[in-house]
Amino acid sequence: MKLWGGRFSKNEDEFMEEFNSSISFDIRLFEEDIEGSVGQAYALKKAGILDKDELDKTINALNELYEQYKAGEIKSYDGYEDVHSLIESLLYEKIGDTAYKLHTGRSRNDQVATDMVMYVKKEALNISNLLLNLLDTLIGNAKKYNDIILPGYTHLQRAQPILLSHYLMAYFEMFKRDYIRFKDMLNRIDIMPLGSGALAGSTFPLDRDYEADILGFKCISLNSIDAVSNRDFCLECIFNCTMTMMHMSRISEELILWSTKEFNFIEIDEAYSTGSSMMPQKKNPDSLELARGKTGRVYGDLISLLTVIKGLPLAYNKDMQEDKESTFDAVDTVKICIAMLKRVISSIKVNSGSMLAACKTGYLNATDMADYLTERGIPFRKAHEAVGNIIRYCEEKGETLEDLSLDELKKFSDVFTDDVYGAIDIKNSINKKLTTGSTSQEMVEKTMSIEEEWLKIEKSLM
Ligand code: ARG
Repeated sequence: MKLWGGRFSKNEDEFMEEFNSSISFDIRLFEEDIEGSVGQAYALKKAGILDKDELDKTINALNELYEQYKAGEIKSYDGYEDVHSLIESLLYEKIGDTAYKLHTGRSRNDQVATDMVMYVKKEALNISNLLLNLLDTLIGNAKKYNDIILPGYTHLQRAQPILLSHYLMAYFEMFKRDYIRFKDMLNRIDIMPLGSGALAGSTFPLDRDYEADILGFKCISLNSIDAVSNRDFCLECIFNCTMTMMHMSRISEELILWSTKEFNFIEIDEAYSTGSSMMPQKKNPDSLELARGKTGRVYGDLISLLTVIKGLPLAYNKDMQEDKESTFDAVDTVKICIAMLKRVISSIKVNSGSMLAACKTGYLNATDMADYLTERGIPFRKAHEAVGNIIRYCEEKGETLEDLSLDELKKFSDVFTDDVYGAIDIKNSINKKLTTGSTSQEMVEKTMSIEEEWLKIEKSLM
């Protein structure tokens, strides 16, 4: 049955009915809609609209419906306009006319807004948990690989040697920010729209604070017009998803590169790769490619909802029904990608030999040689130039910096002594980077222990 048939003399066109319906996707709000209705029933009892008996009947029936839904017993909902109409009809089948009292002082506008905030709150927490798991994996691997050296890159050109742990902890920082962003959003969006009616509020004396308490909201909205037309919380959630996807896309891209024969730094576990239907030798990193590719659709979700909302006059407009698929899709996608990335990272095999070998060509210790000269009184700019000349010389001879004899080096600067070879040793290069946040083993260990402590506290709060 329709929730709004009274003023119409003509039936809705079938095509229009189909076009207008959101049940195929908002059925996912079943749990939230039941929960919101439970809160509404209590508020109606307090306002004197439902008596004790009606309240009990309503709550029991709503709980039963929820159980039936969970058990997969509510199967055919075609023909219903949306989840709200469906639940009201099912409730009517159970308790008759009392079911029709539930909509007193409530519109689907505040109802759906409330459902959506509840959904976003629940999923933001789920995503935060998944991110904590990913952070756990990253720091676990970082600790495991704290003595593996590889080239760090700028412009995708070999730049300076770094520890693999340091690299992994860079992604730790990104996903930590993502985690904090989701948690932080939870503080901001925890506002209950229910009680705002269609847009102007409610005639009935609903105790909204009481209702918010029951539904686990921190506070209630203070403007009914904004409350029913606000989808900022969906947008914020999708934005947080895009940021997380972007980070996942970056690490995916890097791991894909590293797994090529050209780099040969890592091997991606066969369990997360696929073969080619034509080329028998292929092992493709599809898991990571998909995580990278799916980033596009989540960006799309954000742009799509931003565009839906941007021209809307206050208050509710049916355009807002389009909030759901974008929000659901962004949430679903980010969740499976985090879970997949965690699996791939946990199972990666590291070729430390290739990583170290890659540090030997490309003059990764050139900056260390310039620093060496600077420590001995040469202004850095001059030292930079001298080492530049040395590199040109090396390139002509096809040699590395450490291949050069002291006599050859002295031609470029007379401050060179025997200790230069220690200064440009790759391990020493790393371990001399001692400022906070640097790549030396000592510093990375310090960072990891700070982050591990942070992670422990966050996990205990979950
Ligand atoms: N299915 C609708 C949505 O998702 C519910 C709200 C309908 N409100 C209305 N005034 N027609 O937005």
